[in-house]
Amino acid sequence: MGSTLNSLIEKGVLVSPELIEKEVDEELVKEITEFFGDSLDYLDEEIINNFKKQKQENEKESPVTIIQTYNNPPKKRTYQDFVKVFNNRYDNIASILRTRRELEGTTTISRLKDMQNERVSIIGMIQDKNYTKNQAIILKLEDPTGITTVIIRKDDNNKELYETANDLVLDEIIGVTGRTAKDAVFADKIIFPEIPLNKELKKGREEEYLVCLGDTHFGSNVFMEKEFKKFIDWINGRVGSEEQKNIAKKVKYLVLTGDIVEGVGVYPSQEEDLEIKDITEQYEEAARWIKQIPSHIHIIITTGNHDAGRLSEPQEPPPIEFSKSLWEIPNVTMISNPGYVNIGKTKDFPGFDLLLYHGGSLIYYADNIPSIRSLGGQKRSDLIMKFLLQRRHLAPTHGSTLYLPDAEKDYLLIDLVPDFFITGHIHRSSVSEYRGVSMINASCWTETTDDQVKRGLEPLPARVTLINLKTRQPKIMNYLGKEAKEKEKEKAKQAKQLD
Ligand SMILES: [Fe+2]
Repeated sequence: MGSTLNSLIEKGVLVSPELIEKEVDEELVKEITEFFGDSLDYLDEEIINNFKKQKQENEKESPVTIIQTYNNPPKKRTYQDFVKVFNNRYDNIASILRTRRELEGTTTISRLKDMQNERVSIIGMIQDKNYTKNQAIILKLEDPTGITTVIIRKDDNNKELYETANDLVLDEIIGVTGRTAKDAVFADKIIFPEIPLNKELKKGREEEYLVCLGDTHFGSNVFMEKEFKKFIDWINGRVGSEEQKNIAKKVKYLVLTGDIVEGVGVYPSQEEDLEIKDITEQYEEAARWIKQIPSHIHIIITTGNHDAGRLSEPQEPPPIEFSKSLWEIPNVTMISNPGYVNIGKTKDFPGFDLLLYHGGSLIYYADNIPSIRSLGGQKRSDLIMKFLLQRRHLAPTHGSTLYLPDAEKDYLLIDLVPDFFITGHIHRSSVSEYRGVSMINASCWTETTDDQVKRGLEPLPARVTLINLKTRQPKIMNYLGKEAKEKEKEKAKQAKQLD
C-alpha cells in the first residue's frame, strides 16, 4: 500500500479493502484528496475510476462547448411558476450579495420593527419607487419576511448615493445599509450584486480571432448584400491589406447574436419590407451565406425577436422545421437566447465563457435609466450592458422584455460571470470592457430606414467586431462603401437636429 493511502487512513478516511491490496496510481489519489478535501470520507475503486474518466473528459480539447441553452418542451405556465421564479431569483442574488463585506450579518425585514435608531443592513427586492416633493426617493423593499420603506434623501452630502438610487429599477434585488427610524431605513449605501472586481482578463495562448456579427436579417429588402459580400470576401482571404488577410486566416470563432432572418409577420404590413416572403426560404438564404464562411471557423448562432419560434425569452433556438438548412451546417452550433458557450478550451487553458443575448431588454433600460438616457440612451449599449452585469440579470425589471419563466431555472440570471458578453438588437456597433468582461454590441446588416431616423435611432450597420483572443484587443471593421459612409454622416446630422 502506498504512502498516500496510508496517510488517508490515518486521517480517518475509510479505504476499501480491495484498494489496499492493489497497486494504485499515487498521483491520482493525491489529486482526488486535494479535490474533495475534508469531504472525502470513503475511497474505493469506483470513485477512482469515475474521477479518472471525468478528468480525461475535462482535458479533451473542445473548441465549442455549450454551457447553457434553453430547450424545454412547451407547457402551460401557472401563477405559481412566476412565484417560484421570483423566489429563486431572490435566493440566487441574495446569496451573491451576502458575500459582500458590508452585508455580513444582514437583518431580515420582519425584525426591523423592533429596532430603533440602529445601524442595519438588509437585502430586498424593490417593489415600488417614488419621489417626495423634496425629491427624496422612497423605496418599498421586500424580502421573504416582509416589506419596509427605504429613504434616500436628496442633499449635497450624498450626491453619489442619490444618483445610484435614482437609477434603481423595480424588481431588482439590492443590499442597503443605513439607520432605522420609525418604520423606515435611512440608507447610506446601496449595494449591487455586481461582478467581482478582481476577475482576470483571460488571455488565450494563440493569436486567434473571434468575429462578432449581429442582426443579419436575411430576407429583408434592405439587407446590405454588397457589404456582406465584402465581409465574406475578407473572411475567405480574398480582399484586404496583407495584415487584414493575415487576420482572416486566424479567425477561429464567429458568433451571430440573433435576428438571423427578417422573419414574417413580426410587425404590421412587414410583407412590404420582405425580399423573401417565406420563413423557410429566408433561413435557406441565411444558410447559403453562412456556408460561404470557411468551414474551419466555429460558428455559434443565437436567435432574436425576428426569428422563427416563440418570442418570449428564454427563446429556444429557431425550430428545425423552418431552419433545417442552418442546423445541417457542420460547423454551426445553435443555442438559445440567452445562452452560454465556452470556446477554446484546451488541456491547459479553461477557454472563454461567452454569454450571448440578443438584447430584448436593452431598449427598456436605455429609455428608463436616467443616467443612461442623459448620456445617449440606445447609443450607449456599453452603459446598458454594464448596468445588467451589475444587477447579475438580463432583465431585472419584470416587463422590460417579453419573458416566459421556466419554473425550474431563471435563464436570464447572470449566474456565471462571462469573459464576453455579446448582444445585438439595437443595431449599433460597440466594444467596451467592464471588470474583465468584454462587452460587445454587434452591428447589423440592414440599411438605415427613414423610419428609424424619424424615431431618433442611429444604427451603425455593416460593422464586424474582431477580438484577438491572445491580447483581447478589439478591432471594428467597417464595410460601408464611401458613399454609404457619407449618407450615414448626413443621417446622423438629421437625427441630431430632431433631438
Ligand atoms: Fe434586429
